[in-house]
Amino acid sequence: MKEMLMDCDPGHDDAIALLLAAASPELQLRGVTTVAGNQILELTTKNALKVLEFAGVEVEVYAGCEKPLIRELKTAPDVHGETGLEGPELPEPRGEAGEKHAVNYLREELKRADEPLALVPTGPLTNIGSLLAGTPGIEENIEEIIFMGGAIQGGNRTAAAEFNILVDPEAADLVLNSGVDKTMVGLDVTRRARFLPEDIEEIKEIDNPVAEMAAELLDYFVKYHRRELDMNGCPLHDPLAVAALIDDTVIETETRPVRVETAGRFTTGSTVVDFDGKTLGEPNLEVAVDVDGEKFKHMVKKALSGF
Ligand code: BDR
Ligand code: CA
Repeated sequence: MKEMLMDCDPGHDDAIALLLAAASPELQLRGVTTVAGNQILELTTKNALKVLEFAGVEVEVYAGCEKPLIRELKTAPDVHGETGLEGPELPEPRGEAGEKHAVNYLREELKRADEPLALVPTGPLTNIGSLLAGTPGIEENIEEIIFMGGAIQGGNRTAAAEFNILVDPEAADLVLNSGVDKTMVGLDVTRRARFLPEDIEEIKEIDNPVAEMAAELLDYFVKYHRRELDMNGCPLHDPLAVAALIDDTVIETETRPVRVETAGRFTTGSTVVDFDGKTLGEPNLEVAVDVDGEKFKHMVKKALSGF
């Protein structure tokens, strides 16, 4: 069993990523940290609590950074709504986030664990960048980082940048330049593994309240993708990073040098992948280049069936 910590900004796809992590017997979700991204920190934290409580998942939640390292926060109400989790009507959470700052929690938990832990960040990398920059030697306590963010080509918030990296490129730069083993699960692959209307029907047929909530999240996400991007179905970006930790055959990766653009006029927040290995130095991470979409969707459906 792989022990892991999730750092997220729920967010429709983050919510399903949490469910996948919590329900998969291959993983032990030791803790959840939240970051500002899809919505302000107060809302992403509340959303994490709501989803976990509704699903009956007992895990501690800690709130982290409320803004990027040096930039103003950009949120995504156009994608995830004013609450960050529009769609399902979920009860207000009864519990609260822990008192510690998420970065302190992550530091303590990583040091406390007997073995190095995996980190799966699915929002802007502010908490993880802060952790790495502020804790010399912490790399040794991290087994690997599988993050959802970036793209080999193109973006979703600008022509060149994916949302999570665009929001905090300096934090992403710290993570990408760290010595930890890393895998980037970017838009190129998440967009190739779309949940189609028939997949959502199957999820509805699972017929438990958590699967029903997931279907409502998907319905909302599908409408956004149809309206704004003329897409049939929708990708679920964040759960793919969790799926890759559960089973690394769900994605195919290549070892490449990847850098984050922090100073571009049109390209800030883009992830530049050097496929020739000529100009960006030594390879620093595994980049997902392909995905087994059917396997991924099966994993999500199976996880939802377990609630
Ligand atoms: C990423 O941005 C967010 O809106 C999603 O939750 C996902 O993490 C996709 O670009
Ligand atoms: Ca996210």
